Amino acid sequence: MSREIRLAIVGVGNCTSALVQGLHYYAQGGESVGLMHREMGGYDVTDIKPAVAFDVNACKVGLDLSDAIFAPPNNAYRVPDIELTESGVEVLMGPVADGAPPHLQSQMERAVGQPVDVVAALREAGAEVMLNMLPTGSAEAARIYAEAALEAGVAFVNGMPELIVCDESFAREAEMRKVPLVGDDVKSQLGGTILHRAMVETMLARGIQIKKTYQLNYAGNTDFYNLIHRGESKEKTKRGAVETLIPYEADVSAGFAHVPNMEDRKTARFYFELANFSNAPIILDAKLEVEDSANFAGVAVDAIRCCRLALDRGTGGVLTSASAFFCKHPPQQIVDEQALKMLEEFIQGKRDR
Ligand SMILES: NC(=O)c1ccc[n+]([C@@H]2O[C@H](COP(=O)([O-])OP(=O)(O)OC[C@H]3O[C@@H](n4cnc5c(N)ncnc54)[C@H](O)[C@@H]3O)[C@@H](O)[C@H]2O)c1
Repeated sequence: MSREIRLAIVGVGNCTSALVQGLHYYAQGGESVGLMHREMGGYDVTDIKPAVAFDVNACKVGLDLSDAIFAPPNNAYRVPDIELTESGVEVLMGPVADGAPPHLQSQMERAVGQPVDVVAALREAGAEVMLNMLPTGSAEAARIYAEAALEAGVAFVNGMPELIVCDESFAREAEMRKVPLVGDDVKSQLGGTILHRAMVETMLARGIQIKKTYQLNYAGNTDFYNLIHRGESKEKTKRGAVETLIPYEADVSAGFAHVPNMEDRKTARFYFELANFSNAPIILDAKLEVEDSANFAGVAVDAIRCCRLALDRGTGGVLTSASAFFCKHPPQQIVDEQALKMLEEFIQGKRDR
C-alpha cells in the first residue's frame, strides 16, 4: 500500500502557503518540532503530497504550486532555509461562484478562462483527501467543491466556517459512499479558539463564574480583510466554540479587525469579567501573537492523515473525534481533553470515528 497521501488543495492562499512550505521544511530535515504527531498510524507528515490545486486569482492560476504560494496577495511567513523545487502541480482554474466578491477583487484580479471540471481533475490527479481553504463566506463555492469530493470519492476536510460537515444529509451521503469528513472550520494549533476554550475550561473546573468574555482577533492578511466584510459565519463558529462549553448563560462575543501592516501575524486578545469566592470580581486580559497560517497548517496535517486512516479502514462519514479536536464547529462538540483521548483511540484503531 502506498504511504503517499494525495492532497487536493482548494484555495492557494496563506494557509496553503504555510502548509506547502512546512511540508518542504520537514522533508528537508527541518527540526521535528511544532507537530502534534510526526507520525500518525504509519503516516509521516511528509507523506502528504499535493496532487492537484484550484484557485481563481489571475496571479496564481497556471503557475506551479511552489510559485503560486508566494503570489500576491499572499503574505504568509516565509520559512527560512528551505528549497522549494517545482512541484509539478499546476494551479487549475476552479469554479468561481461566490469566491471572489467585489471586496476581494480589490485585493486580487480574478482569472479569466473556463473553470476545469473539478471531479475529472480530482480523478486524474488520483486525489485522496481534499482540503477546503476558501475565503470565509464562499458558501456556494465551498458546496461545489464538497459535492465534487463526494462524487469523486475523495475525503473532505473543511477548513473554513461553512457548515458542510455539520449538514446531516451531506454527512449521511458521505457515510454511504465511504467518504471520510472532518469539519467544520479548523481550530488553529494555538489560536484564539483553543486558548479561549482552555481558559474557560479552567475557570469552570475551579468554580469561577464567567460573566462576560470576548475574543478580538486582528491581522493584516486577506482572510482578515474578508472577515471584516463577510465574517458572520466565522463569528458564529468562534463564539459557538466557547459558548457551548459554558453550562449557564454568559455574555460571549467574538470580533475581528484588519490591520494591513501586520501581514500574516495575528494578535488575539481575550477579555474576561469573572467572579470567584463570595462573588469577588476578577478581570483577565490576555494577548497571543502568532503566525496565523502556520497555525492552520499544523492542524491540517493531522486532519488530512486521519482521513487517510479512515479511507484505509473503509470508514466514511463524520470522523467524530478528529472533527471535535481539530475544528471549531464539529457536528458534536466535545471538551478538548476528552476529544484528544478519543482521537488517540481512533488513530490506534480502537474506535471507528
Ligand atoms: N489562518 C488560520 O489560522 C485559519 C484558521 C482556521 C480557518 N481558516 C480559514 O481558512 C480559509 C483560508 O484562509 P487563508 O488565510 O488561506 O485565506 P486566503 O484569502 O489567503 O486564501 C483563500 C484562497 O482561495 C482562493 N479562492 C477564492 N475563491 C475560490 C474558488 N472559487 N475556487 C478556488 N479558489 C478560490 C483565493 O483566490 C485565495 O487564494 C478561510 O476561510 C479562513 O477563515 C484559517
